[in-house]
Amino acid sequence: MLKDDFKNLLKQVQADIKSNMTKDDWLALEKKYLGRKGELNKLMDSLKTLAVEEKREVGKLANAVKLELENFFHKQKSIFNPVDENKTFDLTLPGEKYNIGHLHPITQIQEELEEIFASMGFIVEDGPEVESEYYNFDALNIPAHHPARDMQDTFFTAEGNVLRTHTSSVQVRAMEKYGTPLRCIVPGKVFRNEATDASHDHTFYQLEGLMIDKNISITNLIAVMKELLRGIFKQEVTVRLRPGFFPFVEPGFELDIKCLICRGNGCSVCKQSGWLELLPCGLIHPNVLRAGGIDPAEWSGFAFGLGLTRLVMMRYGIEDIRLLFGNDLRFLKQF
Ligand code: DAH
Repeated sequence: MLKDDFKNLLKQVQADIKSNMTKDDWLALEKKYLGRKGELNKLMDSLKTLAVEEKREVGKLANAVKLELENFFHKQKSIFNPVDENKTFDLTLPGEKYNIGHLHPITQIQEELEEIFASMGFIVEDGPEVESEYYNFDALNIPAHHPARDMQDTFFTAEGNVLRTHTSSVQVRAMEKYGTPLRCIVPGKVFRNEATDASHDHTFYQLEGLMIDKNISITNLIAVMKELLRGIFKQEVTVRLRPGFFPFVEPGFELDIKCLICRGNGCSVCKQSGWLELLPCGLIHPNVLRAGGIDPAEWSGFAFGLGLTRLVMMRYGIEDIRLLFGNDLRFLKQF
C-alpha cells in the first residue's frame, strides 16, 4: 500500500546511512530521496491514482514524511556548513575592531591615590551620598545656624537629609566604626547648590583623609601630604601652609604647592602668584573627636580634603569642569 511505502521511506533513508559520510555523500543521499526525480516525488506521483478520500489521508502522511526528511537533511548539512554558504569568509581580512572603554580620568586619579595611601597604611572607606544633617554638619562642629553652613548650600530631601556637601561627612562615621588608631581615606561624590560655570558644578569629587593616633602633629600632616603630592606629580613638590578656617579643624590650613608649570615664577595657571591652592587641612577639632567617641586628651589627628576634580583639572590643564562631566568621547578618549 502506498501509505506503507511512505512510511518505509524513512526506514530506507536510515538504512542508506553509512558511517563517515562526507558532505557530498549527504548531498547525494538527499538528492536520491528529495530530488526532483527522487524517491519521495515518485511516491507523490502515485497519489494521483487514489480516490479522493484516500488521497486526503495519505497526502497528509506524505507531507509529514516530506517535512521530516527535509529537516533531517537540513540538520546533517548544517553540521558541514555552520556558516551561511553565500557569505565568503576571508581569513586574511583584518578583524573588526572593538572599542574598549577606559576609566574616567577622575577614577584613574582616585585609584592612583588609593594606592599611594594604601602604601602608607590607610584604609579606603565609603559613605552615603544622601547623608544626615548630623554627619554632614553637626558632628563636624557646624551647628545649625552657624554661618559656615552658608558656604555649603546643598539639596535637602523631603525627610530632612542632605546630599552630602563634602566627604568630611564620613569622618565621624569612620571614627565610630573603627575607633583608634585610625588611618583612612574617603574618595567620593559630593554636591552643592551651585550655579554651573567653568570651575563650579553641582556635583564633583573629593578625597577626604584622616589619621588619628597618639601625638599626631602638623609635622605628620605635612609629611603625608608631601608623600601624596610626590606620588601624584612624580616629582618633589614645595608646599606652604597658610591659615584657613574650617570648623572641624583647629588649627586649620590651606596647603599650597609651588606652581609646577612655572616653578614659582608666575604664570596664567597660578594667576602669577607662583602658588596653587590645593589642599585644605588641619588638626582635627576636639569636638569632632568627641563626636566620634574619641578622647581628645589621649588622641590627636589630622584631616584633609582633596578636591579630586580640581586635581584632575590641574594635572591635565583642563580649563572647564563641564568637559569632565559631559560624557563627550572626543574629550574622554584623550586620557
Ligand atoms: N570639607 C571641606 C570642604 O569641602 C574641605 C576640608 C577642609 C576637609 C579641611 C578637611 C579639612 O578634612 O581638614 O570644603
